[in-house]
Amino acid sequence: MTGRLRLGVNIDHVATIRNARGGEHPDPLRAAQAAERAGADGITAHLREDRRHITDADIDRLMRGIALPLNLEMAATDEMLAIALAHRPHAACIVPEKREERTTEGGLDAAGQFAALVPIVDQLGAAGIRVSLFIEPTELQVDAALRLGVPVIEFHTGRFALVGGEDRVVELRRIADAAALAAKNGIEAHAGHGLTFDNVVPVAAIPQIAELNIGHFLIGEAIFTGLEASVARMRSLMDSAR
Ligand code: PXP
Repeated sequence: MTGRLRLGVNIDHVATIRNARGGEHPDPLRAAQAAERAGADGITAHLREDRRHITDADIDRLMRGIALPLNLEMAATDEMLAIALAHRPHAACIVPEKREERTTEGGLDAAGQFAALVPIVDQLGAAGIRVSLFIEPTELQVDAALRLGVPVIEFHTGRFALVGGEDRVVELRRIADAAALAAKNGIEAHAGHGLTFDNVVPVAAIPQIAELNIGHFLIGEAIFTGLEASVARMRSLMDSAR
């Protein structure tokens, strides 16, 4: 697949800053609306078990206040399943979640947790929610996603973003190979985590990848340039890669 690569802007860390003081500022909904004006194609938000950034009320306001599709990142738990089924976002991305981690540190073990994922994937899909799995770019995990019957896979680019030199080339190849395997089997490939202005282009150039989800860097950069400028620059770097 080639053509326009979609940008999903993750607004979690607008909520992180708001929560540092309580109250309502800065407002993640306002950030989502600014991202939309700057060329985002979707908004992503992760409702964590500990509600450390996005809250239930944020999900409610985002569902009602944005025109763009909402991609709800969620752990594979009964609580999150009930919330997703109540709100029916456009998409739900199932992510691994450990309370003590700082961020989503690795992909979901779709192969190891296969049996537990089946009912969650099935119920989300039956509700018309586009399900994706946030996995490492390996054949084992892509194969599990295929067997689970999800329409979308999101590849974790965290390792690619961390390493340099020859290791980065190897990581990029793993992502490209896994995206090609997904696309060959009719699954849409997305990618995200740790992407920045400096590393986004080679990932954006992988022709089978249809969407990138980017958050922390864009919100951090917005401190210096404003959110619309930060999103617009990412959008233009992504477009330059195609
Ligand atoms: N995609 C998924 C599934 C995520 O969980 C996250 C956040 O951890 C991202 C993309 C965005 O990562 P980052 O904030 O590093 O851009």
